[in-house]
Amino acid sequence: MSHDAPNLDFEGSTPYEDYVKADVLTHLQHTLSDDPGEMVFLVTTQVMELWFTVIVHEWETAARALREDRTPVATDALKRSVRELEALNASWTPLAGLTPAQFNSYRSALGEGSGFQSAMYRRLEFLLGDKSASMLVPHRGAPRVHAELEKALHEPSLYDEVVRLLARRGYDIPDAVLQRDLTRKYEAAPEVEAAWTAVYSGDQNGELARLGEALTDVAELVWRWRNDHLVATRRAMGSKTGTGGSAGVAWLEKRARNNVFPELWTARSYV
Ligand code: HEM
Repeated sequence: MSHDAPNLDFEGSTPYEDYVKADVLTHLQHTLSDDPGEMVFLVTTQVMELWFTVIVHEWETAARALREDRTPVATDALKRSVRELEALNASWTPLAGLTPAQFNSYRSALGEGSGFQSAMYRRLEFLLGDKSASMLVPHRGAPRVHAELEKALHEPSLYDEVVRLLARRGYDIPDAVLQRDLTRKYEAAPEVEAAWTAVYSGDQNGELARLGEALTDVAELVWRWRNDHLVATRRAMGSKTGTGGSAGVAWLEKRARNNVFPELWTARSYV
């Protein structure tokens, strides 16, 4: 055999398989109906779960770096997540034109299954500061998932770490914000808005201004994911109720109005 061809000889599985687990990954597509269109619905959902996993990893890296006052490391992780969010959002494309008749072909097979029950999406929201103990309830029957969510519920979110950093850098952040109950949703505070106003009025190339812009990119792309989901849902099922039991589009509209990192947006009015 010539020496410029790839190696064909392996004992047992290939090193690629050992690393990627492609055989496992490509045999997890158990569709529930006979409809040929269900496959892309399932795989798109699985692909999004994988992106959620990567993004949670980046944001946890960023939160840790902020805690250790390594702001550029945090900003790098956030910037990686911005590219990943773009890829995540691009994966709406195959589902974006789903008609109600196409969706109906496999919708009933989903039973009560809904993305609302995605634990990884919930960890993503918890990292953004959107905490809620009741979001753990659907996962009571799955000990590993429940334990991971419970840990995330009690830990400071990515944004809590950002606000703590602002305080360490001399911005006047009240104790009520710094000592807040971490298991509840982060509520916008005027002092945090004032801190961002000052950051944005100062050196545009400073560490904090660059961090602020990376966070704003994240916020915008999360908002886009929610809106793309909302529009795809409106196209696929109009105003029917969701398989997860919510009012459907009306409920998702409310969720999409939820501001990510609120003071980073409101501060802009005062710069
Ligand atoms: C076009 C196909 C889709 C439709 C019609 C749809 C519909 C819905 C509806 C109606 C809800 C509200 C909860 C409920 O009552 O079920 C929901 C929630 C959700 N869906 Fe989808 N969905 C679609 C695709 C996806 C995909 C591909 C994902 C990727 C994982 C996803 C993830 C989620 C998540 C995370 C929530 C919870 C949102 C929140 O808690 O704010 N959905 N979806």
